[in-house]
Amino acid sequence: MANLMIIHGPNLNMLGIREPEIYGRTTLSELNQMIKEKACKLDFNIEIQQSNHEGVIIDLIHSAYGHMDGIIINPGAYTHYSYAIADAIASVSLPVIEVHLSDISKREEFRRHSVIKAVSVAQIAGLGTGSYLAALDKMAELLA
Ligand code: DQA
Repeated sequence: MANLMIIHGPNLNMLGIREPEIYGRTTLSELNQMIKEKACKLDFNIEIQQSNHEGVIIDLIHSAYGHMDGIIINPGAYTHYSYAIADAIASVSLPVIEVHLSDISKREEFRRHSVIKAVSVAQIAGLGTGSYLAALDKMAELLA
C-alpha cells in the first residue's frame, strides 16, 4: 500500500467561506472526506495536513522523505513565489503533484506563473475539488 501526503497550503482552511464564486462552497473537512474516500478506493494510505505557514509546509515536505511515496500539494499563493517550497520539493526527490481548485492560467497575471510546476511531475488545476481527485488518479498511475 503506497503512502501519500496531501498538503493544503495557506487560506485553504477557509474553503467554503473564502470567495465561494472562485473556490466553491465545499469546506476543507468535506474536501478531506472526499479525498479519504477516493484514497481508500485506490488503496492509498494518506496523511492530510494544512498550514498557513511556509516553514511548516517545508518541514512537512522534509518529513515525507523516507516515509511517503508521493505528495499532492496545493501550495495556495506560495505557488507563485515560494522558491523555498520548490527547493524543499526538489530536496526530497519524491513524485509531487501540484493541484489548484481554480484555473490559475486564466486568472490574474501574478497567478499564471507557478514556481512549483518545474519541480512537480504534474499540475492539475481548474477542476474545483475534482483537481484533488484527478491528482489521486494520476498518482495511482505514476506509482503503479
Ligand atoms: C489556489 C490558487 C492560488 O492562486 C491561490 O492563492 C490559492 C488557491 C487554488 O487552489 O486555486 O490560495 O491554489
